[in-house]
Amino acid sequence: MMPQLPFITFEGSEGCGKSTQVQRLTARLERCGIPYVVTREPGGTPIGETIRELLQFAPHNSAMTAETELLLFEASRSQLVREIITPALKRGLCVIADRFLDSTTVYQGAARKLDHETVERLNAFVVGDCIPDITFVLDVDAATAASRMQKPRKADRMEQQPAEFYERVREAYRELAAREVKRIVSIDGSRDANQIENEIWRMLSSRFPSLSTNQ
Ligand code: TMP
Repeated sequence: MMPQLPFITFEGSEGCGKSTQVQRLTARLERCGIPYVVTREPGGTPIGETIRELLQFAPHNSAMTAETELLLFEASRSQLVREIITPALKRGLCVIADRFLDSTTVYQGAARKLDHETVERLNAFVVGDCIPDITFVLDVDAATAASRMQKPRKADRMEQQPAEFYERVREAYRELAAREVKRIVSIDGSRDANQIENEIWRMLSSRFPSLSTNQ
């Protein structure tokens, strides 16, 4: 029987370095010959990418309410779970997700201050039993995050929030990690990318022997 490979998610505020770590992890899996699928949110399916455009870049979207935003993120995830993630896990692939349900808990629940229970109920409805085996939260302070976010392009809608919004995001990720110690691993994201990559791999290969068998 094929060994069960894990469902791994990466979380953190903008500029925390999670996308770099997703790339490094997939490169390592590639070298080890471990089959995987990478997803990103919002997006990751044709329907989800259309929703991403609506959420981030559509010119008429500045009037979007927090409730609409919540439902669009959940709609994108609902499609991703059923179209990509669950089938991939069933086929025995490792799944690496750049953001998943914790982003909604943190951004729409804590930072936008929508009713926490409603957010949790919607999350549960959308993901069902598709819960990550492990979640890495890359924790960085606001100044480090801001310096990494200086991109040549214009900030999208989600990146145009006041500093206080990102402070709430960071705090909420910390609280979540303290609440879900079994699943969530908080990583000091201010360090060198190589160090972080090695720490993540050490943790993954000790927790999931199926990942190191092909090395
Ligand atoms: P990213 O592509 O840099 O990860 O940005 C995605 C943006 O969407 C980021 O600002 C966080 C936000 N977001 C939410 O607010 N709620 C969610 O559920 C998800 C998946 C993302």
